[in-house]
Amino acid sequence: MTDIRAALKQGISQLREARVPSFTLAAELLLLHVLGRDRTWIYSHPEEKVSPADAARYFALLARRASGEPTQHLTGKQEFWGLEFEVTPDVLIPRPETEHLIEVALDRLAVREIRAGRKQTLTGEGLQIADIGTGSGCIAVALAKELPAATIHATDISPAALSVASRNATRHSLESRIHFVERNLLEGVPNHFDLIVSNPPYVGRREKETLEREVRDHEPELALYGGEEGYEFYAELITLSAAYLKPGGLLVLELGHNSLPAVQPLLDASAWTNVGVTNDLAGIPRVIAAERL
Ligand SMILES: C[S@@+](CC[C@H](N)C(=O)[O-])C[C@H]1O[C@@H](n2cnc3c(N)ncnc32)[C@H](O)[C@@H]1O
Repeated sequence: MTDIRAALKQGISQLREARVPSFTLAAELLLLHVLGRDRTWIYSHPEEKVSPADAARYFALLARRASGEPTQHLTGKQEFWGLEFEVTPDVLIPRPETEHLIEVALDRLAVREIRAGRKQTLTGEGLQIADIGTGSGCIAVALAKELPAATIHATDISPAALSVASRNATRHSLESRIHFVERNLLEGVPNHFDLIVSNPPYVGRREKETLEREVRDHEPELALYGGEEGYEFYAELITLSAAYLKPGGLLVLELGHNSLPAVQPLLDASAWTNVGVTNDLAGIPRVIAAERL
């Protein structure tokens, strides 16, 4: 019977040979998942035996990871904004870059409150928020957690993604404040909003072959591709948002790595003001925000 140290060592070397990115972390996460333990526990019990049944499950998962399946599809979860989300192959795996979108949205709302002379803690009282293309629901859930009095309308064109998103809202006891609807963008949604956020599909189809196999072969095409170039989705999103935002309402969008030059001119001075761009930790312009006139 193998022990934890040996199982981990073997997993790391198998994934390294298969050129899996972050192979040590992937082997750890798969072992933690099989054993139902946390990281501290496995490193403080290196000599603990792994049962033959657990070892067999672990080696089966390692083989699937080595052949390209994302770790999150094997464990069924991903952390985002300090919260755990269910993920399946029907939704985009939440990315750390998207946390910048949450930060920018919260900062912009706080500035709005200060400008209006309201200095109380930001609860989101009375705020109507829309999350377009909600996927796993990670943005809607994170905003609902941070703004405990806000109401959120989250749309997606994929019914399968919406099922995952509603389970994530329930998992975090937020189902009464997030309304999930199957829609193209925001079409037919009866509300006007104080804040619209979106992490739209923004990869160019022409970039398909340059994507990692984990992304290209396993994440939903609907969530990835914005068109041949990638930025095509933004024009309709911005036009529609202008119609659906209240005067002074905020739009906060995630950007693809090369979307800024195509997107910034769409936020023209006839409809928008206070346009700002935020870089991610790699220095890539990642979030664009603007205020509706
Ligand atoms: C890049 S993913 C973002 C998912 C999630 N918001 C996140 O940040 O992880 C884009 C999402 O937009 C959805 N989508 C694509 N086209 C759409 C459309 N026309 N209307 C609404 N949602 C759409 C996809 O199904 C996918 O869930």
